[in-house]
Amino acid sequence: MRGYKILVVSILVLLISPAAAAERWFNQDIVKYGNGLFQQNCAICHGSNAEGTRDWKKTDANGNYPPPPLDGSAHAWHHPLAQLARSIKEGGIKLGGVMPPFGDKLSDQEVLAVIAYFQSKWPDEVYDPWHQRFMQ
Ligand code: HEC
Repeated sequence: MRGYKILVVSILVLLISPAAAAERWFNQDIVKYGNGLFQQNCAICHGSNAEGTRDWKKTDANGNYPPPPLDGSAHAWHHPLAQLARSIKEGGIKLGGVMPPFGDKLSDQEVLAVIAYFQSKWPDEVYDPWHQRFMQ
């Protein structure tokens, strides 16, 4: 009898849990494709898991910011998809930063795949509000 009650309670808890996480705009194939491109073009600065530099808010001796994490722990999630794509295509040099532009190197689709790769690292608590704000 006790086991049965526990079962009923567990089912109720499952039923009233918060709604499932937002669906991602990308699938695993795009993430895999983006992973390859990211490792080739971005990992040298942003880290192979997009973890970036721990002290990304501190400038170096030349006043430049180090490569920020793109894994959801810094502020890439403040930007809509188009703006992330623009940052990657134009780089940061024009804005006084040091990131090289990738507009001539990666196609629009490749840029999106690279974004999908680092967004796949974003936990639901970071991805869901971003999705709600920019993708709906
Ligand atoms: C030479 C090092 C370097 C490489 C290579 C590089 N980045 Fe960056 N990236 C940076 C730095 C440094 C910044 C901070 C802005 C600046 O200084 O230009 C940055 C900023 C960014 C931002 C803006 C982050 C934000 O929070 O607004 C994105 C997005 C980004 N990089 C993605 C990429 C992707 C994707 C690639 C590969 C296609 C890449 N970067 C390659 C160094 C690099």
